[in-house]
Amino acid sequence: MTAPVNPTQTEAWTRLGQLHDDLQVDLRGWFESDRQRAEKFTFTAADLHVDLSKNILTEDVLKNLLDLAAETNVLARRDQMFNGEHINNTEDRAVLHTALRRPKEDKLAVDGQEVVQDVHRVLERVYDFARRVRNGEWVGITGKRIETVVNIGIGGSDLGPVMVYEALKPYVQEGLECRFVSNIDPTDVAQKTADLDPETTLFIVASKTFTTLETLTNARLARTWLLEALEAAGALDGKESKEAVAKHFIAVSTALEKVAEFGIDPANAFGFWDWVGGRYSVDSAIGTSLAIALGPENFEEFLGGFHALDQHFLTAAPEENVPLLMGLLNVWYVNFVKAASHAVLPYAQQLHRFPAYLQQLTMESNGKSVRWDGSSIDYSTGEIFWGEPGTNGQHAFYQLIHQGTQLIPADFIAFAKPAYPLNDGDKSAHELFLANFFAQPKALAFGKTEEEVRAEGTREEIVTARVFAGNKPSTSIMAPALTPRVMGELIALYEHITFVQGAVWGVNSFDQWGVELGKQLALQIYPAVAGDDEALAAQDDSTAGLIRYYRENR
Ligand code: F6P
Repeated sequence: MTAPVNPTQTEAWTRLGQLHDDLQVDLRGWFESDRQRAEKFTFTAADLHVDLSKNILTEDVLKNLLDLAAETNVLARRDQMFNGEHINNTEDRAVLHTALRRPKEDKLAVDGQEVVQDVHRVLERVYDFARRVRNGEWVGITGKRIETVVNIGIGGSDLGPVMVYEALKPYVQEGLECRFVSNIDPTDVAQKTADLDPETTLFIVASKTFTTLETLTNARLARTWLLEALEAAGALDGKESKEAVAKHFIAVSTALEKVAEFGIDPANAFGFWDWVGGRYSVDSAIGTSLAIALGPENFEEFLGGFHALDQHFLTAAPEENVPLLMGLLNVWYVNFVKAASHAVLPYAQQLHRFPAYLQQLTMESNGKSVRWDGSSIDYSTGEIFWGEPGTNGQHAFYQLIHQGTQLIPADFIAFAKPAYPLNDGDKSAHELFLANFFAQPKALAFGKTEEEVRAEGTREEIVTARVFAGNKPSTSIMAPALTPRVMGELIALYEHITFVQGAVWGVNSFDQWGVELGKQLALQIYPAVAGDDEALAAQDDSTAGLIRYYRENR
């Protein structure tokens, strides 16, 4: 594997630093003096129309960002990823989520194994199962068809499926519903099962490792709930609990032997591979709940969207390569403009879980402080991603983006066609909504000057409070409609943006050692919580005090 480059030692980095110091940011002036600006900085990637023109971006900055990508070998690393090299070196694994969406005829041998064929073999099994649930062939222990699918997983085994389910609800088959249990807080299982009929419920235990405490605990709670509820309804009728579990539990994992130990029939388990990272797995069998709810055809479209964006990332020229440009812009904001966070603001209620999904994708990937050769980093990496759908966010936190002291680059996302075309009198609700999507980036970029505020007849004492400085950067992303295909494209876009940032920073975006310590400590601390005084005495004073408080108040 190639050694990482320290980006701060490149010539492009030095030039970008200089450019930033000299830059007089003036988005109003830039647009006025260059009528081509919007067109020049607007790009297409598959079905996505991406306008970068309201960013703090000049042709000079862009050229130097592309030089930075060249000096840090971003595209060479991209090719290593697509070809299955073990770029996840701390886990000695290939990084091949892109193989999950390659067409059947493609060939890719990795470590002596034809991975595309393997992918399609599993997909066929998932599709076959999904069809049987959808057409009522697959029934519960009492012969009733499945009405509710409960996915039990956490992190990448939850956030992708729940986000896409919410986004594509208009495509869900009538009579089917999915729910998602993730938190080990027993409230989650309790509330999500409270009104369910066990005879029509199917659980999917989704866990790459099948060792995750939360998921296995919730799976056991769900199994107990199922058996007790069936018994109470007189539905077991002398039948073995094993038979009930086989009809109401399936699993998705890379550890199929552990699935069998749990008591799930291996015939009803779908595998994937260690070269699929959890946060990159929604398009693997981890998406089984989606294949059931949306149907195999829509799931295929979803995969097609990912693939289209992969092809764009692989083949578009650097100066038109949207994930490359957006990833580089993020580096510019983090390292030169010194932005600590990045807002993602979908103008689509259906995408209300998209920011949460992106938090794992981006922050678990690039929240690192050593390069992939272990050398330490003395520049910023991994900004905080956050957001909420517009227009709700407008009435909550936009104040800070417009007039606060921190600069927060924002991605605005919207769709031309609404999922629900409703009218309020003679006004289209969707068009009122979209007017906001167009207005906010405009307000951020161009602001409102003191003169403009005064011209509105504002009292002098409050003029400055009503000024909008402008020059707040944003990207606007549009697509014709939020279809399964466009959903796949959007996810792949952000996967590759994340990749580009990680590659420039020299970090391994595919491991997540930072989640381990807390997991280990929770297991060590549990006996103290449960009442073991010796374990309590072994804790630091603060932790012991908190546990004592719990024990006194439980
Ligand atoms: O704790 C973090 C993590 O390892 C994520 O990377 C992963 O998506 C999640 O836990 C769930 O892991 P699994 O699918 O193995 O249960």
